[in-house]
Amino acid sequence: MTGIGRNGIEKLLKSPVFHTIRDISEEMGVESFVIGGFVRDIFLERPSKDIDVVVIGSGIELAEKVALKLGKLRLSVFKNFGTAMLKYRDLEVEFVGARKESYQRNSRKPIVEDGTLEDDQNRRDFSINALALSLNKSNYGDLLDPFNGIQDMEKGIIRTPQEPNITFSDDPLRMMRAIRFATQLDFKIEESTFQGIKDNKDRIEIVSSERISDELNKIVMADRPSIGFKLLELSGLLEIIFPEFQALKGVDKVDGRAHKDNFYHTLEVLDRIVPNTDNLWLRWSALLHDIAKPVTKRYDKNLGWTFHNHNFIGTKMVPKIFKRIKLPLNEKMKFVQKMVGLHMRPIVLSEDEVSDSAVRRLLFEAGDDIDDLMTLCEADITSKNAEKVKRYMRNFKVVRRKLKEIEEKDNVRNFQPPVTGEEIMEVFGLEPCKAIGDLKSFIKEAILDGEIANEHDAAFELMLKKGKEMGYEPVK
Ligand code: CTP
Repeated sequence: MTGIGRNGIEKLLKSPVFHTIRDISEEMGVESFVIGGFVRDIFLERPSKDIDVVVIGSGIELAEKVALKLGKLRLSVFKNFGTAMLKYRDLEVEFVGARKESYQRNSRKPIVEDGTLEDDQNRRDFSINALALSLNKSNYGDLLDPFNGIQDMEKGIIRTPQEPNITFSDDPLRMMRAIRFATQLDFKIEESTFQGIKDNKDRIEIVSSERISDELNKIVMADRPSIGFKLLELSGLLEIIFPEFQALKGVDKVDGRAHKDNFYHTLEVLDRIVPNTDNLWLRWSALLHDIAKPVTKRYDKNLGWTFHNHNFIGTKMVPKIFKRIKLPLNEKMKFVQKMVGLHMRPIVLSEDEVSDSAVRRLLFEAGDDIDDLMTLCEADITSKNAEKVKRYMRNFKVVRRKLKEIEEKDNVRNFQPPVTGEEIMEVFGLEPCKAIGDLKSFIKEAILDGEIANEHDAAFELMLKKGKEMGYEPVK
C-alpha cells in the first residue's frame, strides 16, 4: 500500500494539470494542495479521477487561470460555494479556497471563513481523508499528514481527526460515511470514533434521505455489505434509518423451539449474492426478500414458527420503504417487488418432484427476470445442513434445465395470448364483455398446465369447445 513512495507520487502528479496549477500558484503567490479522497486512493491503489485542490486563497481565481492556460477549458463556477470545477481529459478537478468551518447545532449549513491548510485538514471527516500533497514549487509532491492517516491506512482504521463529537456533529452524514468506508475498505472503526457515532446517532435525522440512501447503496455495492449493516445495527443508526430491517434481528423461542435470526440470515444471503451480480436492485432484493417475516411471524403448536405470506406482504412493504429511503419508485422498485414476491417459488418447486407445469407457471410469472430470480434463490440457501444444501442445489439444477427445455418448447417467457380478444369477439359475434376475459384466461391456464400447446390452432379449438359450454356458438 505505502509502497507507492516518492517516485510513485511524482509520477502521479506528472499530468500537465498539476504542473499548471503549480506554475500559476507560484505566479499568484498562493499555495495549493491536492487533498482528500484522491490522495487517500493513491495509497490504497484505487485509481480515482476526482481531484480536489485546496488553495490558500481564491479557488475560483486559480481555477480560471489554470483553465485558460490549459487551452480555454470550460469551467463551472459555483460562486455561492466558492468553488470551481474543470475537466481536463478524463480528470475532474475541483478548486476550493482553504476553509475554517463551524457549524450550528441544527443545521448542516456551516459558517465558513478563510483558513490555513491546517484549518482545512482539521475540518475533514477522517484521518485517511485529511491527507494532502503539496503542489508548490518548493516542496512539490510532499505529503502532509497531520493526523497519521498513512498509519491508519496501514492498520486499517477509520478515525476522526478531531474529537469524534465535533466531527460528527459538524456533519452527521459522516457517521454513515465512516461505516461505508469501513465496509468498502474492510477497515475497523476506531473505538472512540465508533462511540462518537453511537452518541450522535440521533443527529442523522437532519441529513437528507437522498444522501443517506447514497451511502446505503455504496454499502450494498461493496464486496461484503454485511460489514456495514452489522455496524449500522451496532451503532443504533439502523433502527432510525431502516427500522423494518432492524426488526429482522432476534430470535424467539416457544416450547424450546426457536426460529433462525432473519437479520443474520438476510446478511448472509446478501453477501452470497455479491459474486453473482453487480445489479444494485438484485442486491436490494436480497436485502428485502424476508422483510415481512417479523410482521407475519406466528407460533403454531403443531407447525412451529410460520411466516405465512411473508413474500406477498413483503411486496406491499417495498414501496413504503423505497419512498422513505428515497429510492426510485419506478421499474427498479417493481423489479424488487417481483423478486420479493417470487423468492419462495423455485425453492418450493424444488422440494417436490419438479413438474413441467409448475416450471411453466414460474417462467410465465418471472418472464425475463427468471435468471435473476434463480440467482436470488440460490443465495437464499444458507442452511448449515450440508445434505440439505446439496439436495437443493441438485434440484435447482433440474429446475434450470427444465426452464430451458420448456422455454424452447413452449415459449411462455413473454407470454402473448395465442388467440386475441378481437378474434374471440369476431368468432362468437360478441361485444366487449367479461366472457372474453374468461375465455382468454381459460386458454392461458390450459397452456400453463401443459394441456394444450402454446399455439394458435390448439388454442382456437379449445376456445370453440369452451365457448360452446358457456352457451356461445360461432356466428359463421
Ligand atoms: N469530506 C468531509 N466530510 C464529508 C464529505 C467529504 O470531510 N461529509 C471531505 C473528505 O476529506 C473527503 C473529501 O471531502 O475525502 C471529498 O469528499 P467526497 O468526494 O464526497 O468523497 P471521497 O472521500 O472522495 O470518497 P468517495 O468518492 O468514495 O465518496
